[in-house]
Amino acid sequence: MTGKLFIRTFGCQMNEYDSEKIAAVLAEAEGLAPAASVDEADVIVFNTCSVRDKAQEKVFADLGRIKHLKRANPDLMIAVGGCVASQEGGAILERAPYVDVVFGPQTLHRLPELLERRRASGRPQVDVSFPEIEKFDRLPPARAAGPAAFVSVMEGCSKYCSFCVVPYTRGPEISRPFDDVIAEIAGLAAQGVKEVTLLGQNVNAWRGEIEGEAADFAELLRYVAEIGDIGRIRYTTSHPREFTQRLIDVHAELPGLAAHVHLPVQSGSDRVLAAMKRGYTALEYRAIIRRLRKAKPDLSISSDFIVGFPGETEADFAATLALAAELQFDGSFSFLYSARPGTPAAEMEDAVPLAQKQQRLQRLQAQLEAQAHAVSEAMVGTVQQVLVEGPSRRNPAELAARTANNRTVNFAGGGELVGRFTDLRITEARHHSLRGESLDAGR
Ligand code: SAM
Ligand code: F3S
Repeated sequence: MTGKLFIRTFGCQMNEYDSEKIAAVLAEAEGLAPAASVDEADVIVFNTCSVRDKAQEKVFADLGRIKHLKRANPDLMIAVGGCVASQEGGAILERAPYVDVVFGPQTLHRLPELLERRRASGRPQVDVSFPEIEKFDRLPPARAAGPAAFVSVMEGCSKYCSFCVVPYTRGPEISRPFDDVIAEIAGLAAQGVKEVTLLGQNVNAWRGEIEGEAADFAELLRYVAEIGDIGRIRYTTSHPREFTQRLIDVHAELPGLAAHVHLPVQSGSDRVLAAMKRGYTALEYRAIIRRLRKAKPDLSISSDFIVGFPGETEADFAATLALAAELQFDGSFSFLYSARPGTPAAEMEDAVPLAQKQQRLQRLQAQLEAQAHAVSEAMVGTVQQVLVEGPSRRNPAELAARTANNRTVNFAGGGELVGRFTDLRITEARHHSLRGESLDAGR
């Protein structure tokens, strides 16, 4: 009988990616198969997020909820990974003494050893170190789980925005070597993958060596585009400070690069941007967008915003609203500022009442939603190239596909289209998806 693994993932795409790797590592080392629920699991992993306090508190609430399982089955192993683990380390064991292993984003490949040591010694194990890039050398080869795949090209962050815990929890920026990235993508393409998303906390900070020459992210994209069968390339998340003209030019040059960029701005006020230590002004950010749209006129741009940063005035917030409207952002994320222990912003004076911050967040979200819906409406009647991902979630008799600007389109079509690019005419803009019709229909 093989054991079963249950993983609960909190937070960002980086964590989703890491969870896939955790499953692969434990399948290889211990033959663990996925469990449908915590009740049937032999190993439970929580891959946690600490970017905002709500996510962090949820981890402890959820841990409390599985405590009884451990009492009923002392062989059950509970492991906590990700950014809360990285930040709290052994302190997790003080709040939740029934946890067996605490590991960080850079030590997930050591999970089998940590579980083994826990079983042999009877003592909980903690390893939240940052052992350079060894993680990737120790992971099993990537396995495709559909026509679209994520590939991590760099890890960590060295930007130290004043509000953010990521540099402390994920360690400094480290790029994966060029050959490894290309080999992984070629391997995925051979398994039928048609679209890759290059992942990194600051993906455009990637630096490497290609055939003995120093290379940047723009150059990496050119090489990825050469890999046969990969018809669409995305990347996330990029940082404005490293958004070079070379990277902008690549958008004009490579047809396979999706016409969508996610570029977090955080605020439209220079005063707030400086306090956040983002390293650019609103004008510099606007200039990047202007040059990007010149290179690729139909480019869709989404962003991240933080509302209620310490000391944010009504005028600062108005500048954010104005910037979002002016740049016609599409499908963006906005968050209420959350003070993170150990970050410089947590020490800043913050006199803005919570109710006022919440009201600002609602105003921004309503505006961003209206902007995204206007983009969807404008797509009605157009023909879009989409990648067909599989059966639609709502109606399995239909198919779901993804547009270049990252929208799901549901449509009626034959199963032979799954895993392929096809053209759809968009017929309706719904709240969070589109409807379309296949131009293959009736042929
Ligand atoms: N590397 C990316 C960038 O260039 O900004 C962002 C990574 S961060 C994990 C994802 C998003 O979470 C950020 O863009 C920011 O909007 C949000 N975020 C980070 N720290 C936050 C905090 N303390 N409070 C609220 N939102 C936060
Ligand atoms: Fe966080 Fe800023 Fe890095 S938002 S992930 S410190 S670029």
